[in-house]
Amino acid sequence: MALVPKHIKQLSPYQAGKPIEEVRREFGLEKIVKLASNENPLGPSSKVILAVTNSLKNTHRYPDASGFSLRNRLANKFNLKLENVVLGAGSEGIMSVIMRTFLLPTDEIIAARNSFIGFRVLANSSGIHTNWVTMRDYRYDLNAMAKCINEYTKVIYLANPDNPTGTYFTKDEFDQFMKKVPDRVIVILDEAYFEFAMNKKDYPDSMYYRYDNVITLRTFSKAYGLAGFRIGYGFGHEDLIGNILKVKLPFEPSLPAQIAGLTALDDEVYLNYALKINNDGMEYITSSFKKIGYDFIESSTNFVTLILDSPLEAEILCSELLKRGVIVRHLKGFGWAECVRISIGTMDENKYFISILKKIILK
Ligand SMILES: Cc1ncc(COP(=O)(O)O)c(C=O)c1O
Repeated sequence: MALVPKHIKQLSPYQAGKPIEEVRREFGLEKIVKLASNENPLGPSSKVILAVTNSLKNTHRYPDASGFSLRNRLANKFNLKLENVVLGAGSEGIMSVIMRTFLLPTDEIIAARNSFIGFRVLANSSGIHTNWVTMRDYRYDLNAMAKCINEYTKVIYLANPDNPTGTYFTKDEFDQFMKKVPDRVIVILDEAYFEFAMNKKDYPDSMYYRYDNVITLRTFSKAYGLAGFRIGYGFGHEDLIGNILKVKLPFEPSLPAQIAGLTALDDEVYLNYALKINNDGMEYITSSFKKIGYDFIESSTNFVTLILDSPLEAEILCSELLKRGVIVRHLKGFGWAECVRISIGTMDENKYFISILKKIILK
């Protein structure tokens, strides 16, 4: 249709992990284990459920457009001012506002090829020219990204740790990179998996840096188990955040989402438990891969990516697992056709996955 711009026509629709009910219908299975979307397998904390349930009686009212309570709580926790904090419908929601706030048609973006698919969609749908920089050994090549900076560069997107590789760039690499980034360039530092990586000694927690041109994005979707609420947050210089707030939809995130975030932030018991379950699960799944003789990428997140011998082998593995009720993610659409990403589940789910995997291999 002539009404649709070329860059929109060229987009492929986002393919989310298969929903559990669809797999149940298609294969007539009782037990389904979904390890496909990097969600927290535990469900939200019981404190969140209680607080959100209580908040429902107020949902005939619009939520607080300034998001005061949660922004204030985040500002206190991270020793910032309210003016440095923005909330959004997931961190992806904030990313989308950042693109609308700062980019002009003549600007350019730099991002890693085959990194987070959500950003790829945003960049491609913006119509802004993007320099996609190839990764090296499943890691960001920050030197190559810095070399792409030119007079038109306005935004650089970095996911640390990255999805779908699970790798991170180190403090040294980040320091070297930032020396080469001019102040007029905005760095979106997507730390969706921050909580899983924060204890690594060489992981650069962006909150210690406070660069004026870096916007840090974090989320309640992963470690806090609130993906369905759609709530994330961002930190940055007050000038940047102030302008993002002008462009953002005023009543996002929803009232229950704001309450969920506020409650989750104070529930450290839940967070520590979720991180422990993830650690144990990662240890179990990766040691099983080693025993089987599978190659995988060392991950600092809540998922791990297998490297198979060929795209065909990866495709067959996914469909064989699916037939038996285990949903994992073939990374063909991400640009890694030989890879399969597995999100860490509960220990029961992890054991079920490995038992099915062994049956498939021995078949
Ligand atoms: C690297 C990365 N950034 C952002 C997101 C989106 O998170 P949210 O649910 O906060 O929009 C994801 C979700 O998978 C992700 O992997």
